[in-house]
Amino acid sequence: MDLTTKYLGLTLRSPLVASAGPISRTVQGVEHLADAGVGAIVLPSLFEEQVRREAERDARLAEAGTESFAESLSYLPGTGGEDGPRRYLDLLGRAIGAVDVPVIASLNGVTAGGWTDYSIAMEEMGAAAIELNVYYLPPDPNMPGRDVEQRYVDILTTVKAAVSIPVAVKLGPFFSSAGEVAVRLDRAGADGLVLFNRFMQTDIDPETLTVSTGLTLSNPAEAALPRSWIARLRGLVGASLAATTGVETAADVAAYLLAGADVVMTTSSLLRHGPGHAAVLIDGLSEWLKRKGFSAVDDVRGLLAVPAGAQGSAFERTGYLAAIKEASAAYGAAHSDDG
Ligand SMILES: Cc1cc2nc3c(=O)[nH]c(=O)nc-3n(C[C@H](O)[C@H](O)[C@H](O)COP(=O)(O)O)c2cc1C
Repeated sequence: MDLTTKYLGLTLRSPLVASAGPISRTVQGVEHLADAGVGAIVLPSLFEEQVRREAERDARLAEAGTESFAESLSYLPGTGGEDGPRRYLDLLGRAIGAVDVPVIASLNGVTAGGWTDYSIAMEEMGAAAIELNVYYLPPDPNMPGRDVEQRYVDILTTVKAAVSIPVAVKLGPFFSSAGEVAVRLDRAGADGLVLFNRFMQTDIDPETLTVSTGLTLSNPAEAALPRSWIARLRGLVGASLAATTGVETAADVAAYLLAGADVVMTTSSLLRHGPGHAAVLIDGLSEWLKRKGFSAVDDVRGLLAVPAGAQGSAFERTGYLAAIKEASAAYGAAHSDDG
């Protein structure tokens, strides 16, 4: 089965990509993912805060003077390299050297400040591409939506101006017109759009009277939202489309490809079942393609995307009305004997 896939201008051996997550935090994890057959690997994000912390530390050391360098280090526990940008670049370089699939670096931040210069170091280290995760939850209820959107565009254009490798933007669904934001980012030069980021949602536990901030793994039902946006954006944007959220089985991968995803990413399923689960998904995809009479993954991509020229909202409303009718009929049949 031919699973060859184009993503961000790169040629991948398979459309399954390991999204940013804890497994690719080590070279061994990266190797396990490559052994299982993924087409590319996204490293966990380097956060804007980590870059700023290290820059502040360097400035303090420079102020302290070279004679007291060692002494200064001991005064600054925990601010150093154990989880900072230098460590990140080291991981990136070693990961690239260890596997023969593209390794994508990830930057996570909310401003278009100088920290984005780290994209240059990532490119120099050999990253195949950069994924920008703009994880921004506006803290000020008075902030206009347009200002929030502009941040995404500003960060993208700053990074695009700094590097020549492809740049993808990972974004969340919480915009009043998510499609327009995607189209704006496409026009601003995004090589790829990764849909959708999952935000950590704080919640309240009434038993323990505490606020929880846990990061939960996804479930397949959550894939419906990114999938419907991918189906709508297919053919509308020049950027590659990457699906992220809710992949558990090969059928979930197939459904995303039918919607029009160029690649399908997974983290939760690999955390649940181990990196070897990537091979299960890829084998299952090949079996499904064969069973349906296809010989290449390219033959199914976008088959069930929203047709070009279809009125988006009319298309949605038709589906919405049909779904309500179906659910009402099912309820009626189940309760036909009731009073
Ligand atoms: C424990 C954990 C750590 C993650 N770390 C990152 C990260 O560093 N950067 C990033 O862009 N996304 C990160 N993600 C998000 C995943 O890359 C992915 O987009 C999200 O989990 C949805 O995909 P899934 O349903 O396959 O898990 C993380 C997810 C999990 C569960």
